[in-house]
Amino acid sequence: MPADFSNGYEAIASRFIESRSPDMGATVVAEWSRVLAPGSAVLDLGCGSGAPISQVLADLGFAIHGVDASPSMAAAFAKRFPNAPVECAAVENCSFLNRTFDAIVSWGLFFLLDAGAQRKLIARVSDALRPGGRFLFTAPSQACSWADSLTGLPSVSLGEAAYRIELEAAGLALTGTRLDEGGNHYYLASVTPRTWPPPR
Ligand SMILES: C[S@@+](CC[C@H](N)C(=O)[O-])C[C@H]1O[C@@H](n2cnc3c(N)ncnc32)[C@H](O)[C@@H]1O
Repeated sequence: MPADFSNGYEAIASRFIESRSPDMGATVVAEWSRVLAPGSAVLDLGCGSGAPISQVLADLGFAIHGVDASPSMAAAFAKRFPNAPVECAAVENCSFLNRTFDAIVSWGLFFLLDAGAQRKLIARVSDALRPGGRFLFTAPSQACSWADSLTGLPSVSLGEAAYRIELEAAGLALTGTRLDEGGNHYYLASVTPRTWPPPR
């Protein structure tokens, strides 16, 4: 059997897609995107089916791209957005992060990765962002660990203080946080002008 890089989501893909709240995250992401230039290229890491995160961005006219390690999720994204590039790969080694984007969004993915993988991914995200680029991801504000409610697999948040340090080390500044109606916590970051490209 091939290795599962989706952290258990391939096995529950249809259940997740059916039960995913149709608008959770859409308002915060739409508001965040208001600083982006028209037609900006946006990469959605752990995109799932694309609903509602990439959908709201596509509706606003941005050029969306998706990456997901679950073949079923990547196929659902491709079906929803026939003209949008999508890569079925683990974010840890996907090729889309070798390109450059104006913004990167990641809803419900980071905390599925272990702490080391999250740190490496923040660095890769920074490398893939253009000067002035924006980054949004979700994870709890507190450092904590728990079992994912759908897969039972471990989830971990580094917490705001540690994420701030990791972002800064990668050349990104934490510019704000948000909380949505479902209690999901958002980190908003942007490429630090003085330090792009990051000093590594
Ligand atoms: C909680 S779901 C969120 C999906 C989508 N972002 C949304 O807003 O509904 C997490 C997604 O991350 C994907 N995923 C988990 N681990 C991954 C990895 N290492 N690389 C790429 N995708 C991954 C899963 O397949 C799943 O689609």
